[in-house]
Amino acid sequence: MSQKVLLSGIQATGKLHFGNYFGAMKQNIDLANSGEYESYIFVADYHALTTVKDKNALRESSLEIAAAYIACGLDLSKATLFRQSSVPEHTELAWVFNNVVTMPYLMRAHAFKDRQFKELSERLSAHPRHEALMKFTLDFRNKVEEVIGELIFKDKGGLEKYNEYGLTEEEINMCISNIININNITETVNVGLLDYPVLMAADILIYQADVVPVGADQKQHVEYARDIAGFYNRAWNVEQFKLPKDMILESVATIPGVDGAKMSKSKGNVISLFGTDEEVKKAVMGIVTDSARPEDKKNADENNIFNIHKHFLDEEGVATLRAKFENGGYGYKEAKEELLATIMKWREGKKEKFDELMSNPSQIVEILEEGGKKARARAQETIGQVREQTGLIA
Ligand code: TRP
Repeated sequence: MSQKVLLSGIQATGKLHFGNYFGAMKQNIDLANSGEYESYIFVADYHALTTVKDKNALRESSLEIAAAYIACGLDLSKATLFRQSSVPEHTELAWVFNNVVTMPYLMRAHAFKDRQFKELSERLSAHPRHEALMKFTLDFRNKVEEVIGELIFKDKGGLEKYNEYGLTEEEINMCISNIININNITETVNVGLLDYPVLMAADILIYQADVVPVGADQKQHVEYARDIAGFYNRAWNVEQFKLPKDMILESVATIPGVDGAKMSKSKGNVISLFGTDEEVKKAVMGIVTDSARPEDKKNADENNIFNIHKHFLDEEGVATLRAKFENGGYGYKEAKEELLATIMKWREGKKEKFDELMSNPSQIVEILEEGGKKARARAQETIGQVREQTGLIA
């Protein structure tokens, strides 16, 4: 029996942090190194173009992702590591898919809608009532019909129901109008972003992937890939793409940032994977805590330091750490210092390897190119079939 195919991409935007590592890279490395799968791991540089318009930054972060995978122990004899753009067939397949996918279907994607509402929020940022307007807008963006019924048709008490937002009828009408017209008022969200799920579907389906180990925030994108496989098969009446079921690993971690919200570059709350020791120290020492005193007993599960530290530890280590928080006598300064020590220990060897690779990028480029050739050969098989099925071949 042939091996199942594992595929995972990581978008090349900015410095890597422990949210990237525990949220995606670690699972990818463990699964690939298990040898159980035919594994494809790639740097999603085409996807990154949707936001990155600086050629050096794109090149640099592509190399960093590859170097980080290698430094963190990805076994290159078991996984094919490459850049998405080494396999232009991804975009060719995405173009074919574009013709079986409708605009409203793409406009419903969470990631796309979030971008639109982010733009709206920025546009209203100077408005004196910004906060109340956006709170109402975000609370009701999926329930706008309900609000219209209540306000316009004076169902269920009308405006009074929305007292807590402190908005006038006119302001509520403005919010509703923005929600309804969001697709017409969006100006900064490019077509690449709208089409992001189609390219991602092509990434997945071009290798006929069985397993795509993504976290919860990418779940909808994988569902789109499944839908798109079906749209294609039906449009050309073929059984080209299978619709794999078990593509999402529920166990993938979401790691909190130093402020307790999900660790993410855009929130500025990250602990860098391979930044300088000083950067890491500054981030760790800046972890937000409550004002409990060292002697107080603490709720571990509600504590940022614990919730970050636990990802580095095995079950026994987590239990020991938990006890320290819960028994009292473990102050936040000490807790941060211990976390810092754990991180530094984790970085031992890996950071040197990363720095060495980054100082000699030709090594990485070579690995990526070789991976690209292997991946491309595989992708070309699929594209050949697609060309045949669609009539792109005489
Ligand atoms: N969208 C993914 C992310 O932001 C990256 C990605 C692109 C990906 N193509 C993929 C992940 C294909 C898995 C499979 O993390």
